[in-house]
Amino acid sequence: MFQFSPQLPLRMRRMRRTPALRALVQETVINKNDLIMPLFIASGEGICNPISAMPGCFQISIDKLEDEVKSLVELGIGGVILFGIPAFKDSLGHESCRDDGVVQTAIRVIKALASEMLVIADVCLCEYLEHGHCGVVNDETGQMDVDNDETLQILAEQAESFAHAGADIVAPSGMMDGMVAAIRHGLDNAGFDHIPILSYAVKYASALYGPFREAVECQLKTGNRLTYQMDPANAAEALREAELDVAEGTDMLMVKPASFYLDVIHRVKQAFPDVPLGAYQVSGEYAMIKAAAANGWVDEQRVVMESLLSIKRAGADFIITYFAKAVAGWLKA
Ligand code: PBG
Ligand code: ZN
Repeated sequence: MFQFSPQLPLRMRRMRRTPALRALVQETVINKNDLIMPLFIASGEGICNPISAMPGCFQISIDKLEDEVKSLVELGIGGVILFGIPAFKDSLGHESCRDDGVVQTAIRVIKALASEMLVIADVCLCEYLEHGHCGVVNDETGQMDVDNDETLQILAEQAESFAHAGADIVAPSGMMDGMVAAIRHGLDNAGFDHIPILSYAVKYASALYGPFREAVECQLKTGNRLTYQMDPANAAEALREAELDVAEGTDMLMVKPASFYLDVIHRVKQAFPDVPLGAYQVSGEYAMIKAAAANGWVDEQRVVMESLLSIKRAGADFIITYFAKAVAGWLKA
């Protein structure tokens, strides 16, 4: 009588997946050192404000950093990315370049507490500009058009200031044309040729950034970001964006958001296999999972791990995620 005998991989699937067997044949693995935790740094003192659409995330002031860094180190999180909520906003974002600015100070404090912690500084102007756009606005047209080239100067200055404070990596996120070249040039001239650039090369004009805008208090007053962020309908364009940034000298690439753009992550990795690729699981992705889990509709831990696996499986080498601490805790257990 004929007996169906599946090939080896199929037989493996039929076997009971003990942890050891699963680990042995698992193609994609989430490690703590793949994960970067975003931190929102508020100016002022004694601040630990919960962010309503991001349960478990807080704006914290510099004096609260010690506890935060301790817990990150204990959990084994090796990297953070910093966003600042400055005391003042203006039309040029000057506050972002000050040596005693909120991010610069946070960088110094973190490095003093944990010199091994990888500190990434997000380079953008939206937190520092009163209208909330990612670049300086030329109001002559009344269209809230971003002045790309004037913005580049300030971004280069900001990146240099973060490097001077001790940032390990600078991550321009504003999607200005030429930002990588401008920042590279500025860093090299200032003696920071050893500081790598992680470019948010492929950043979509996404509705998933909503909770973040609350977190850093930078809701747009007028206009939209479609003139500098990408149209969610386009994927081939992502390769051109990545190509330009690689040509300008970026050391790493990023795709953002992550979950709705797995195809883009995959294509960018295929096109640039030797460029380290990050993916940003953004605030809206976090909020959606949190909300469903809070209602008991999905199992939070399983959904989070599945989402991170999908992002890595698509081709990301590392992930910026607000779940970083939670995941590190689960992996420890
Ligand atoms: C701004 C910036 C944004 C995020 C990171 N950097 C918001 C935006 O572009 O509007 C979003 C992160 C998130 O939603 O978690 N340069
Ligand atoms: Zn911005």
